[in-house]
Amino acid sequence: MIGKLNHVAIAVPDLAAATALYRDTLGAKVSDPLDQPAHGVTVVFVMLDNTKIELLHPLGENSPIQTFLDRNASGGIHHVCYEVEDIYAARDKLKAEGARVLGDGEPKIGAHDKPVLFLHPKDFLGTLVELEQV
Ligand code: CO
Repeated sequence: MIGKLNHVAIAVPDLAAATALYRDTLGAKVSDPLDQPAHGVTVVFVMLDNTKIELLHPLGENSPIQTFLDRNASGGIHHVCYEVEDIYAARDKLKAEGARVLGDGEPKIGAHDKPVLFLHPKDFLGTLVELEQV
């Protein structure tokens, strides 16, 4: 059901330092920071040949990233995102198998203007999983 790895999102306490680490130390191509107020994050995209890394930094009050950083002060992997062809079919199959979809269970328009869902980390090996319809 799942297709390509779309991205791995890493929550970072210092976006400039994280960007420099990927750009200068690891030698990757990085984007400018992009504020996404609707999602409570500022994102820097790290472009790899086969996928992307998203460096996430809290933006504004009640950012979903802030709670994560409160528990993981030096940052950490926040979620992985897999591509699916049909997000409703994927959701229905997963729910039928007992997996929990976060929120009201309806796909939302995600950071890439495509429908996304998040799956409960306790059902997926301790990893928050995002599904994105491509
Ligand atoms: Co994501």
